[in-house]
Amino acid sequence: MADSAKLTYQDKTVELPVVVGSENEVGVDVSKLRAQTGIITLDDGYGNTGSCLSGITYIDGEKGILRYRGYPIEQLAEKSSFVEVSYLLIFGELPNADQLQEFREHLTQHQFIHESMRHHFEGFPPTAHPMAILSAMINAASCFQPQLMKFEDDASFADSVARLMSKVRTISAASYKQSIGQAIMYPRFDLRYTSNFLYMMYGRPNLDYEPDEDVVRALDQILILHADHEQNCSTSTVRMVGSSQANLWASVAAGVCALWGPLHGGANQAVIEMLTEISASGESCESFVRRVKDDPDTRLMGFGHRVYKSFDPRAKILKAACDKVLDKLGVQDPLLDIAIKLEETALKDEYFVARNLYPNVDFYSGIIMRAIGIPLNMFTVLFAIGRIPGWIANWREVHLNPKARIYRPRQIYTGETARDYVPVQQRQG
Ligand code: CMC
Repeated sequence: MADSAKLTYQDKTVELPVVVGSENEVGVDVSKLRAQTGIITLDDGYGNTGSCLSGITYIDGEKGILRYRGYPIEQLAEKSSFVEVSYLLIFGELPNADQLQEFREHLTQHQFIHESMRHHFEGFPPTAHPMAILSAMINAASCFQPQLMKFEDDASFADSVARLMSKVRTISAASYKQSIGQAIMYPRFDLRYTSNFLYMMYGRPNLDYEPDEDVVRALDQILILHADHEQNCSTSTVRMVGSSQANLWASVAAGVCALWGPLHGGANQAVIEMLTEISASGESCESFVRRVKDDPDTRLMGFGHRVYKSFDPRAKILKAACDKVLDKLGVQDPLLDIAIKLEETALKDEYFVARNLYPNVDFYSGIIMRAIGIPLNMFTVLFAIGRIPGWIANWREVHLNPKARIYRPRQIYTGETARDYVPVQQRQG
Protein backbone atom coordinates (compact mmCIF):
# COMPACT_ATOMS: atom_id res chain seq x y z
CA MET A 1 0.00 0.00 0.00
CA ALA A 2 1.25 3.48 -0.89
CA ASP A 3 2.68 5.32 2.08
CA SER A 4 2.20 8.74 0.54
CA ALA A 5 -0.22 10.57 -1.74
CA LYS A 6 0.55 13.25 -4.31
CA LEU A 7 -1.33 16.49 -4.69
CA THR A 8 -0.75 18.80 -7.61
CA TYR A 9 -1.92 22.39 -7.57
CA GLN A 10 -0.97 24.73 -10.40
CA ASP A 11 2.70 23.96 -11.08
CA LYS A 12 3.54 22.46 -7.70
CA THR A 13 3.28 18.83 -6.57
CA VAL A 14 3.62 17.81 -2.94
CA GLU A 15 3.83 14.40 -1.33
CA LEU A 16 1.50 13.93 1.60
CA PRO A 17 2.03 11.18 4.17
CA VAL A 18 -0.66 8.49 4.41
CA VAL A 19 -1.78 7.12 7.78
CA VAL A 20 -3.28 3.62 7.95
CA GLY A 21 -5.43 2.62 10.93
CA SER A 22 -5.63 -0.80 12.59
CA GLU A 23 -8.69 -1.66 10.46
CA ASN A 24 -6.90 -0.43 7.30
CA GLU A 25 -8.71 2.86 7.12
CA VAL A 26 -6.54 5.23 5.11
CA GLY A 27 -6.13 8.93 5.74
CA VAL A 28 -4.04 11.48 3.90
CA ASP A 29 -2.22 13.67 6.40
CA VAL A 30 -2.70 17.26 5.21
CA SER A 31 -1.44 18.92 8.39
CA LYS A 32 1.63 20.39 6.59
CA LEU A 33 -0.20 21.20 3.33
CA ARG A 34 -0.66 24.90 4.05
CA ALA A 35 2.94 25.33 5.19
CA GLN A 36 4.14 23.64 2.00
CA THR A 37 1.77 25.19 -0.55
CA GLY A 38 -0.30 27.97 1.04
CA ILE A 39 -3.55 26.07 0.38
CA ILE A 40 -5.88 24.30 2.79
CA THR A 41 -8.43 21.50 2.42
CA LEU A 42 -12.11 22.47 2.59
CA ASP A 43 -14.71 20.08 4.00
CA ASP A 44 -17.87 21.87 5.10
CA GLY A 45 -19.50 19.76 7.83
CA TYR A 46 -16.33 17.63 8.24
CA GLY A 47 -17.88 14.68 6.36
CA ASN A 48 -14.51 13.71 4.94
CA THR A 49 -12.17 14.92 7.65
CA GLY A 50 -10.41 12.75 10.19
CA SER A 51 -9.90 15.10 13.13
CA CYS A 52 -7.76 12.77 15.22
CA LEU A 53 -6.24 9.33 15.69
CA SER A 54 -8.38 7.43 18.18
CA GLY A 55 -8.25 3.99 19.78
CA ILE A 56 -11.69 4.01 21.38
CA THR A 57 -14.48 3.14 18.95
CA TYR A 58 -14.50 1.65 15.46
CA ILE A 59 -17.36 2.08 12.99
CA ASP A 60 -17.66 0.65 9.50
CA GLY A 61 -20.68 2.51 8.15
CA GLU A 62 -20.89 0.45 4.97
CA LYS A 63 -21.01 -2.88 6.82
CA GLY A 64 -22.96 -1.66 9.87
CA ILE A 65 -20.15 -2.47 12.34
CA LEU A 66 -19.75 -0.77 15.73
CA ARG A 67 -17.10 -1.86 18.24
CA TYR A 68 -15.99 -0.36 21.54
CA ARG A 69 -12.26 -1.02 22.09
CA GLY A 70 -12.57 -3.92 19.64
CA TYR A 71 -15.62 -5.56 21.23
CA PRO A 72 -18.71 -5.85 18.96
CA ILE A 73 -21.67 -3.81 20.17
CA GLU A 74 -23.96 -6.86 19.81
CA GLN A 75 -21.91 -8.81 22.40
CA LEU A 76 -21.67 -5.90 24.81
CA ALA A 77 -25.40 -5.15 24.55
CA GLU A 78 -26.26 -8.77 25.28
CA LYS A 79 -23.68 -9.69 27.91
CA SER A 80 -22.29 -6.60 29.60
CA SER A 81 -23.60 -3.80 31.80
CA PHE A 82 -23.43 -0.05 31.33
CA VAL A 83 -20.99 0.34 34.22
CA GLU A 84 -18.67 -2.33 32.82
CA VAL A 85 -18.86 -0.82 29.31
CA SER A 86 -18.06 2.61 30.79
CA TYR A 87 -14.95 1.20 32.43
CA LEU A 88 -13.95 -0.41 29.13
CA LEU A 89 -14.35 2.81 27.16
CA ILE A 90 -12.64 5.05 29.69
CA PHE A 91 -9.77 2.84 30.84
CA GLY A 92 -9.27 0.78 27.66
CA GLU A 93 -9.86 -2.79 28.90
CA LEU A 94 -12.69 -4.77 30.43
CA PRO A 95 -12.24 -4.70 34.22
CA ASN A 96 -11.44 -7.83 36.22
CA ALA A 97 -13.84 -8.68 39.06
CA ASP A 98 -11.94 -6.56 41.63
CA GLN A 99 -11.63 -3.58 39.33
CA LEU A 100 -15.32 -3.73 38.51
CA GLN A 101 -16.26 -3.95 42.15
CA GLU A 102 -13.99 -1.03 43.01
CA PHE A 103 -15.44 1.05 40.16
CA ARG A 104 -18.98 0.29 41.33
CA GLU A 105 -18.09 1.28 44.91
CA HIS A 106 -16.48 4.45 43.67
CA LEU A 107 -19.65 5.35 41.77
CA THR A 108 -21.80 4.66 44.82
CA GLN A 109 -19.54 6.67 47.09
CA HIS A 110 -19.81 9.76 44.86
CA GLN A 111 -23.49 9.58 43.99
CA PHE A 112 -24.65 12.46 46.16
CA ILE A 113 -24.59 16.06 45.09
CA HIS A 114 -23.58 18.79 47.53
CA GLU A 115 -26.56 19.80 49.68
CA SER A 116 -26.31 23.43 48.55
CA MET A 117 -26.64 22.25 44.99
CA ARG A 118 -30.10 20.96 45.71
CA HIS A 119 -31.21 24.59 46.11
CA HIS A 120 -29.89 25.43 42.65
CA PHE A 121 -32.75 23.42 41.17
CA GLU A 122 -35.27 25.80 42.71
CA GLY A 123 -33.86 28.63 40.58
CA PHE A 124 -35.01 27.02 37.34
CA PRO A 125 -38.56 27.60 36.09
CA PRO A 126 -40.68 24.42 35.87
CA THR A 127 -40.67 24.83 32.09
CA ALA A 128 -36.86 24.55 31.89
CA HIS A 129 -35.70 21.76 29.61
CA PRO A 130 -33.76 19.15 31.64
CA MET A 131 -30.88 19.37 29.10
CA ALA A 132 -30.42 23.05 30.01
CA ILE A 133 -30.45 22.15 33.70
CA LEU A 134 -28.04 19.26 33.16
CA SER A 135 -25.48 21.34 31.33
CA ALA A 136 -25.65 24.16 33.89
CA MET A 137 -25.47 21.78 36.84
CA ILE A 138 -22.46 19.86 35.55
CA ASN A 139 -20.50 23.09 35.56
CA ALA A 140 -21.99 24.03 38.94
CA ALA A 141 -21.02 20.64 40.42
CA SER A 142 -17.38 21.15 39.50
CA CYS A 143 -17.31 24.40 41.49
CA PHE A 144 -17.81 22.42 44.71
CA GLN A 145 -14.54 20.56 44.21
CA PRO A 146 -12.01 22.87 42.56
CA GLN A 147 -9.45 20.05 42.62
CA LEU A 148 -11.55 18.32 39.95
CA MET A 149 -10.58 21.02 37.49
CA LYS A 150 -7.11 19.49 37.35
CA PHE A 151 -5.95 16.14 36.02
CA GLU A 152 -2.89 15.38 38.07
CA ASP A 153 -2.52 11.63 38.07
CA ASP A 154 -4.46 8.42 37.39
CA ALA A 155 -6.03 8.42 40.87
CA SER A 156 -7.38 11.97 40.59
CA PHE A 157 -8.69 11.19 37.10
CA ALA A 158 -10.46 8.03 38.37
CA ASP A 159 -11.93 10.10 41.19
CA SER A 160 -13.23 12.70 38.75
CA VAL A 161 -14.68 10.00 36.45
CA ALA A 162 -16.65 8.38 39.27
CA ARG A 163 -17.95 11.71 40.52
CA LEU A 164 -18.96 12.90 37.07
CA MET A 165 -20.70 9.69 35.99
CA SER A 166 -22.50 9.25 39.26
CA LYS A 167 -23.53 12.85 39.80
CA VAL A 168 -24.78 13.29 36.23
CA ARG A 169 -27.31 10.56 36.90
CA THR A 170 -28.34 12.12 40.24
CA ILE A 171 -28.64 15.59 38.68
CA SER A 172 -30.68 14.25 35.76
CA ALA A 173 -33.25 12.59 38.00
CA ALA A 174 -33.36 15.66 40.25
CA SER A 175 -34.03 17.95 37.28
CA TYR A 176 -37.04 15.80 36.40
CA LYS A 177 -38.37 15.82 39.97
CA GLN A 178 -37.98 19.59 40.08
CA SER A 179 -39.87 19.97 36.79
CA ILE A 180 -42.88 18.06 38.15
CA GLY A 181 -42.77 19.66 41.57
CA GLN A 182 -41.92 16.49 43.50
CA ALA A 183 -39.34 15.99 46.25
CA ILE A 184 -35.84 15.35 44.95
CA MET A 185 -34.86 11.83 46.03
CA TYR A 186 -31.51 10.85 47.51
CA PRO A 187 -29.81 7.91 45.77
CA ARG A 188 -29.72 4.59 47.62
CA PHE A 189 -26.60 2.66 48.63
CA ASP A 190 -28.10 -0.74 47.85
CA LEU A 191 -29.01 -0.05 44.23
CA ARG A 192 -26.80 -0.22 41.18
CA TYR A 193 -26.29 2.55 38.65
CA THR A 194 -29.35 2.18 36.42
CA SER A 195 -31.76 0.97 39.14
CA ASN A 196 -30.76 3.95 41.24
CA PHE A 197 -31.60 6.29 38.39
CA LEU A 198 -35.07 4.77 38.09
CA TYR A 199 -35.51 4.96 41.85
CA MET A 200 -34.62 8.65 41.89
CA MET A 201 -37.00 9.26 38.97
CA TYR A 202 -40.03 7.39 40.27
CA GLY A 203 -39.45 6.96 44.01
CA ARG A 204 -41.43 9.14 46.46
CA PRO A 205 -40.52 9.83 50.11
CA ASN A 206 -43.79 8.28 51.32
CA LEU A 207 -44.11 5.39 48.86
CA ASP A 208 -42.16 2.20 48.31
CA TYR A 209 -40.67 1.87 44.86
CA GLU A 210 -38.57 -1.03 43.60
CA PRO A 211 -37.32 -0.79 40.00
CA ASP A 212 -38.56 -3.62 37.79
CA GLU A 213 -35.70 -5.86 36.60
CA ASP A 214 -36.85 -5.94 32.97
CA VAL A 215 -37.10 -2.19 32.90
CA VAL A 216 -33.63 -1.86 34.45
CA ARG A 217 -32.17 -4.20 31.85
CA ALA A 218 -33.87 -2.40 28.96
CA LEU A 219 -32.59 0.97 30.14
CA ASP A 220 -29.11 -0.39 30.82
CA GLN A 221 -29.01 -1.68 27.25
CA ILE A 222 -30.06 1.70 25.88
CA LEU A 223 -27.22 3.32 27.86
CA ILE A 224 -24.71 0.77 26.50
CA LEU A 225 -25.81 1.45 22.92
CA HIS A 226 -25.35 5.19 23.40
CA ALA A 227 -22.04 5.00 25.27
CA ASP A 228 -19.78 6.07 22.40
CA HIS A 229 -19.92 6.70 18.68
CA GLU A 230 -16.52 8.06 17.66
CA GLN A 231 -16.30 11.59 16.28
CA ASN A 232 -19.97 12.64 16.34
CA CYS A 233 -21.01 16.26 16.94
CA SER A 234 -21.04 16.21 20.76
CA THR A 235 -17.89 14.11 21.14
CA SER A 236 -16.03 16.36 18.74
CA THR A 237 -17.29 19.28 20.83
CA VAL A 238 -15.93 17.69 24.01
CA ARG A 239 -12.58 17.10 22.28
CA MET A 240 -12.49 20.62 20.91
CA VAL A 241 -13.22 22.21 24.29
CA GLY A 242 -10.80 19.80 25.99
CA SER A 243 -8.08 20.72 23.48
CA SER A 244 -7.93 24.20 25.02
CA GLN A 245 -7.09 22.34 28.27
CA ALA A 246 -10.51 23.18 29.68
CA ASN A 247 -11.30 20.77 32.52
CA LEU A 248 -13.28 17.56 32.06
CA TRP A 249 -16.46 18.96 33.58
CA ALA A 250 -16.55 22.10 31.44
CA SER A 251 -15.83 20.01 28.34
CA VAL A 252 -18.63 17.53 29.13
CA ALA A 253 -21.09 20.38 29.86
CA ALA A 254 -20.36 21.65 26.34
CA GLY A 255 -20.99 18.13 25.01
CA VAL A 256 -24.45 18.15 26.62
CA CYS A 257 -25.30 21.37 24.74
CA ALA A 258 -24.11 19.93 21.42
CA LEU A 259 -26.11 16.75 21.99
CA TRP A 260 -29.32 18.66 22.60
CA GLY A 261 -29.95 19.54 18.93
CA PRO A 262 -32.70 17.63 17.06
CA LEU A 263 -30.27 16.44 14.38
CA HIS A 264 -28.21 14.73 17.11
CA GLY A 265 -29.39 13.50 20.53
CA GLY A 266 -32.60 15.52 20.36
CA ALA A 267 -33.79 13.23 17.58
CA ASN A 268 -35.17 10.63 20.02
CA GLN A 269 -37.63 13.21 21.36
CA ALA A 270 -38.34 14.45 17.82
CA VAL A 271 -39.23 10.90 16.69
CA ILE A 272 -41.95 10.55 19.30
CA GLU A 273 -43.24 14.04 18.52
CA MET A 274 -43.40 13.09 14.83
CA LEU A 275 -45.21 9.79 15.54
CA THR A 276 -47.63 11.55 17.91
CA GLU A 277 -48.39 14.14 15.24
CA ILE A 278 -49.08 11.45 12.64
CA SER A 279 -51.28 9.57 15.08
CA ALA A 280 -53.26 12.67 16.10
CA SER A 281 -53.80 13.88 12.55
CA GLY A 282 -54.71 10.45 11.21
CA GLU A 283 -52.35 11.01 8.30
CA SER A 284 -51.25 7.80 6.58
CA CYS A 285 -47.59 6.77 6.61
CA GLU A 286 -47.56 6.91 2.80
CA SER A 287 -48.76 10.50 2.88
CA PHE A 288 -46.21 11.48 5.55
CA VAL A 289 -43.37 9.91 3.56
CA ARG A 290 -44.57 11.84 0.48
CA ARG A 291 -44.52 15.03 2.54
CA VAL A 292 -40.94 14.34 3.66
CA LYS A 293 -39.88 13.94 0.04
CA ASP A 294 -41.69 17.06 -1.17
CA ASP A 295 -40.81 19.41 1.65
CA PRO A 296 -37.10 19.97 2.33
CA ASP A 297 -37.99 21.25 5.82
CA THR A 298 -39.68 18.00 6.90
CA ARG A 299 -37.41 15.08 7.77
CA LEU A 300 -38.23 11.56 8.74
CA MET A 301 -36.78 11.79 12.23
CA GLY A 302 -34.82 8.74 13.39
CA PHE A 303 -33.78 8.01 9.81
CA GLY A 304 -30.45 8.61 8.14
CA HIS A 305 -26.92 8.79 9.43
CA ARG A 306 -23.74 10.50 8.36
CA VAL A 307 -21.71 7.30 8.73
CA TYR A 308 -24.06 4.28 8.47
CA LYS A 309 -25.03 3.58 4.89
CA SER A 310 -26.47 0.05 5.11
CA PHE A 311 -27.93 -0.15 8.62
CA ASP A 312 -27.32 1.19 12.12
CA PRO A 313 -26.45 -1.86 14.27
CA ARG A 314 -27.81 -0.08 17.34
CA ALA A 315 -31.22 0.31 15.67
CA LYS A 316 -31.26 -3.41 14.87
CA ILE A 317 -30.62 -4.33 18.52
CA LEU A 318 -33.18 -1.81 19.73
CA LYS A 319 -35.88 -2.96 17.36
CA ALA A 320 -35.59 -6.48 18.80
CA ALA A 321 -35.42 -5.11 22.36
CA CYS A 322 -38.48 -2.96 21.70
CA ASP A 323 -40.66 -5.95 20.81
CA LYS A 324 -39.39 -7.80 23.90
CA VAL A 325 -39.90 -4.95 26.35
CA LEU A 326 -43.37 -4.03 25.14
CA ASP A 327 -44.35 -7.68 25.23
CA LYS A 328 -43.01 -8.21 28.77
CA LEU A 329 -44.58 -5.06 30.11
CA GLY A 330 -47.82 -5.78 28.29
CA VAL A 331 -47.71 -2.33 26.70
CA GLN A 332 -49.70 -1.71 23.53
CA ASP A 333 -48.40 1.43 21.93
CA PRO A 334 -50.14 2.72 18.79
CA LEU A 335 -47.01 4.77 18.08
CA LEU A 336 -45.05 1.52 17.67
CA ASP A 337 -47.49 0.39 14.98
CA ILE A 338 -47.01 3.71 13.18
CA ALA A 339 -43.23 3.42 13.53
CA ILE A 340 -43.22 -0.07 12.01
CA LYS A 341 -45.46 1.02 9.13
CA LEU A 342 -43.38 4.14 8.58
CA GLU A 343 -40.17 2.11 8.50
CA GLU A 344 -41.66 -0.36 5.98
CA THR A 345 -42.95 2.45 3.77
CA ALA A 346 -39.68 4.39 3.81
CA LEU A 347 -37.45 1.36 3.23
CA LYS A 348 -39.40 0.55 0.04
CA ASP A 349 -39.34 4.12 -1.22
CA GLU A 350 -36.89 5.07 -3.95
CA TYR A 351 -36.01 8.40 -2.23
CA PHE A 352 -34.78 6.62 0.92
CA VAL A 353 -33.20 3.72 -0.97
CA ALA A 354 -31.22 6.03 -3.27
CA ARG A 355 -29.89 8.04 -0.32
CA ASN A 356 -29.12 5.01 1.89
CA LEU A 357 -31.46 6.22 4.62
CA TYR A 358 -32.20 3.61 7.32
CA PRO A 359 -33.59 3.81 10.85
CA ASN A 360 -30.94 5.04 13.29
CA VAL A 361 -30.58 4.49 17.04
CA ASP A 362 -33.23 7.09 17.83
CA PHE A 363 -36.03 5.47 15.85
CA TYR A 364 -36.79 2.75 18.40
CA SER A 365 -35.09 3.99 21.58
CA GLY A 366 -37.88 6.53 22.11
CA ILE A 367 -40.57 3.86 21.97
CA ILE A 368 -38.77 1.77 24.59
CA MET A 369 -38.25 4.78 26.84
CA ARG A 370 -41.90 5.70 26.45
CA ALA A 371 -42.94 2.16 27.34
CA ILE A 372 -40.90 2.21 30.53
CA GLY A 373 -42.35 5.56 31.53
CA ILE A 374 -39.49 7.95 30.78
CA PRO A 375 -41.04 11.37 30.08
CA LEU A 376 -40.47 12.82 26.63
CA ASN A 377 -38.27 15.73 27.68
CA MET A 378 -35.93 13.30 29.49
CA PHE A 379 -35.14 11.22 26.39
CA THR A 380 -32.15 13.30 25.35
CA VAL A 381 -30.98 13.40 28.96
CA LEU A 382 -30.89 9.59 28.90
CA PHE A 383 -28.78 9.80 25.76
CA ALA A 384 -26.44 12.18 27.62
CA ILE A 385 -26.13 9.86 30.63
CA GLY A 386 -25.26 7.07 28.20
CA ARG A 387 -22.74 9.16 26.27
CA ILE A 388 -20.81 10.36 29.36
CA PRO A 389 -18.21 7.51 29.27
CA GLY A 390 -17.56 8.13 25.57
CA TRP A 391 -17.04 11.83 26.19
CA ILE A 392 -14.73 11.11 29.12
CA ALA A 393 -12.70 8.57 27.10
CA ASN A 394 -12.32 11.05 24.24
CA TRP A 395 -11.42 13.93 26.54
CA ARG A 396 -8.77 11.73 28.15
CA GLU A 397 -7.35 10.76 24.77
CA VAL A 398 -6.88 14.44 23.90
CA HIS A 399 -5.41 15.12 27.33
CA LEU A 400 -2.90 12.26 27.22
CA ASN A 401 -1.74 12.93 23.66
CA PRO A 402 1.79 14.32 23.94
CA LYS A 403 1.40 15.88 20.48
CA ALA A 404 -1.98 17.44 21.25
CA ARG A 405 -2.51 20.97 19.98
CA ILE A 406 -5.52 23.21 20.44
CA TYR A 407 -8.17 22.35 17.83
CA ARG A 408 -8.24 25.28 15.45
CA PRO A 409 -9.69 24.68 11.97
CA ARG A 410 -9.10 27.12 9.12
CA GLN A 411 -11.69 28.64 6.80
CA ILE A 412 -12.07 30.07 3.33
CA TYR A 413 -13.21 33.64 3.81
CA THR A 414 -16.07 34.68 1.50
CA GLY A 415 -16.99 38.05 3.05
CA GLU A 416 -16.27 41.63 1.98
CA THR A 417 -12.76 42.54 0.96
CA ALA A 418 -11.01 45.47 2.77
CA ARG A 419 -13.03 48.69 2.94
CA ASP A 420 -12.73 51.92 4.92
CA TYR A 421 -14.81 52.78 7.98
CA VAL A 422 -17.52 55.39 7.28
CA PRO A 423 -18.79 57.59 10.18
CA VAL A 424 -22.49 56.97 10.94
CA GLN A 425 -23.58 60.45 9.68
CA GLN A 426 -22.13 59.73 6.25
CA ARG A 427 -23.65 56.27 5.73
CA GLN A 428 -26.24 55.93 3.02
CA GLY A 429 -29.61 54.17 3.49
N1 CMC B 1 -35.45 12.46 6.13
C1 CMC B 1 -35.51 12.87 4.83
N2 CMC B 1 -34.42 13.07 4.07
C2 CMC B 1 -33.23 12.88 4.64
C3 CMC B 1 -33.09 12.45 5.97
C4 CMC B 1 -34.26 12.23 6.72
N3 CMC B 1 -34.20 11.83 8.00
N4 CMC B 1 -31.78 12.35 6.28
C5 CMC B 1 -31.13 12.68 5.17
N5 CMC B 1 -31.99 13.01 4.18
C6 CMC B 1 -31.66 13.37 2.80
C7 CMC B 1 -31.20 14.81 2.70
O1 CMC B 1 -32.27 15.69 2.42
C8 CMC B 1 -30.22 14.73 1.55
O2 CMC B 1 -30.96 14.67 0.36
P1 CMC B 1 -30.38 15.38 -0.98
O3 CMC B 1 -29.12 14.62 -1.31
O4 CMC B 1 -31.47 15.23 -1.97
O5 CMC B 1 -30.11 16.81 -0.61
C9 CMC B 1 -29.57 13.36 1.73
O6 CMC B 1 -30.56 12.56 2.41
C10 CMC B 1 -28.29 13.40 2.56
O7 CMC B 1 -28.61 14.05 3.78
P2 CMC B 1 -27.61 14.96 4.60
O8 CMC B 1 -28.40 15.94 5.41
O9 CMC B 1 -26.55 15.50 3.69
O10 CMC B 1 -26.96 13.89 5.52
P3 CMC B 1 -26.07 14.22 6.75
O11 CMC B 1 -25.07 13.15 6.83
O12 CMC B 1 -25.59 15.62 6.73
O13 CMC B 1 -27.11 14.13 7.98
C11 CMC B 1 -28.44 13.30 9.69
C12 CMC B 1 -27.23 13.05 8.80
C13 CMC B 1 -28.50 12.23 10.77
C14 CMC B 1 -28.29 14.66 10.39
C15 CMC B 1 -29.72 13.28 8.80
O14 CMC B 1 -29.87 12.01 8.22
C16 CMC B 1 -30.96 13.66 9.58
O15 CMC B 1 -31.25 14.86 9.69
N6 CMC B 1 -31.72 12.67 10.15
C17 CMC B 1 -32.87 12.98 10.95
C18 CMC B 1 -32.43 13.35 12.35
C19 CMC B 1 -31.94 12.15 13.12
O16 CMC B 1 -32.58 11.10 13.14
N7 CMC B 1 -30.80 12.32 13.80
C20 CMC B 1 -30.22 11.26 14.65
C21 CMC B 1 -28.91 10.75 14.11
S1 CMC B 1 -28.35 9.26 14.92
C22 CMC B 1 -28.02 9.69 16.54
C23 CMC B 1 -27.03 10.80 16.69
O17 CMC B 1 -25.97 10.76 16.10
O18 CMC B 1 -27.31 11.68 17.46
